[in-house]
Amino acid sequence: MQMRMTAGMFMLALAGAVPAQDFGDTPYVQTPQNVVDAMLKTAKVTARDYVIDLGSGDGRLVITAAKQHGARGFGVDLDKRLVQLANNNARKAGVADRAKFYARDLFETDLSPASVITIYLLPEVNLMARSKFLALAPGTRIVSHDYGIGDWLPDLEYEMDAPGKPVGRSQKSKVLYWVVPDLVAGRWVWQVASAGKPRTVELALKQNYQKLEATAKLDGRTVPVERATLTGRMIEVTMTLPEHGRVTFSGQRINQAVEGEMRAADNKSAGKGETVPWSAVRVEIQDAAHVIAPPPVIREFGADGQ
Ligand SMILES: C[S@@+](CC[C@H](N)C(=O)[O-])C[C@H]1O[C@@H](n2cnc3c(N)ncnc32)[C@H](O)[C@@H]1O
Repeated sequence: MQMRMTAGMFMLALAGAVPAQDFGDTPYVQTPQNVVDAMLKTAKVTARDYVIDLGSGDGRLVITAAKQHGARGFGVDLDKRLVQLANNNARKAGVADRAKFYARDLFETDLSPASVITIYLLPEVNLMARSKFLALAPGTRIVSHDYGIGDWLPDLEYEMDAPGKPVGRSQKSKVLYWVVPDLVAGRWVWQVASAGKPRTVELALKQNYQKLEATAKLDGRTVPVERATLTGRMIEVTMTLPEHGRVTFSGQRINQAVEGEMRAADNKSAGKGETVPWSAVRVEIQDAAHVIAPPPVIREFGADGQ
């Protein structure tokens, strides 16, 4: 039987778990350092990144991103004492110029500078922030400790040992990772040369979050689509065309066009190893399912194994 846990119960669990660090009513639990390291590694944080931690506690995520990966960024927290502690920790770590902390509500924070968002928040808070996350530039990475974002399934999720974790009996943590998807639903059209003749490929894409459902036609006849993925702005579609064999089209959307390359997907395909430029045009725009009908905010959640 699956256990159910309300947000209130979760808050009590969090607040009760850290009596040695009583920062008041606000639930505060540190992410164990090995989980912090794993989160930043999963998001592939580098010196080019701007990291924003929502509910930054003692600042460990942004401080580690600055110290270990050369990134810049800031954290926000409702608790002024935690913000002061985080700024002191940044000074002690020698990264105060690149890691800053502000007493601010995450819902009143401009997230647009972020290339990476980190969160360890109540599942309900994640869900409330979902529309803010989906409005970020496509390609922005989000990494969460333990909790999901409603029905927006992560691109990657794994469990790891979390020795010393102040909550839960398992001493395990989950790391969940998303890339904010572009909006690519609709009908895309381009031409491929076949025996010296141009032939028309039409690709219909339906989208729900980053998940794509694709059907394709060559000169009006259905051809099998093996795989269609969306990672940020990058569309990748593998299909079988009668005279080319399995081919992969990959490219990035720029307005109503996509620019990239077409390559043979395996050694049996014609022109094996060959890569040629690919461009397509969107002739009909559709809304993604998650844009048309954002699911309602739910008040109760299953306990994510904690
Ligand atoms: C579970 S702790 C995570 C701390 C830190 N990010 C870490 O992983 O070690 C959640 C933090 O979020 C803060 N918080 C909760 N709701 C917030 C909000 N609406 N705006 C800003 N901070 C918030 C709390 O004060 C708490 O410090």
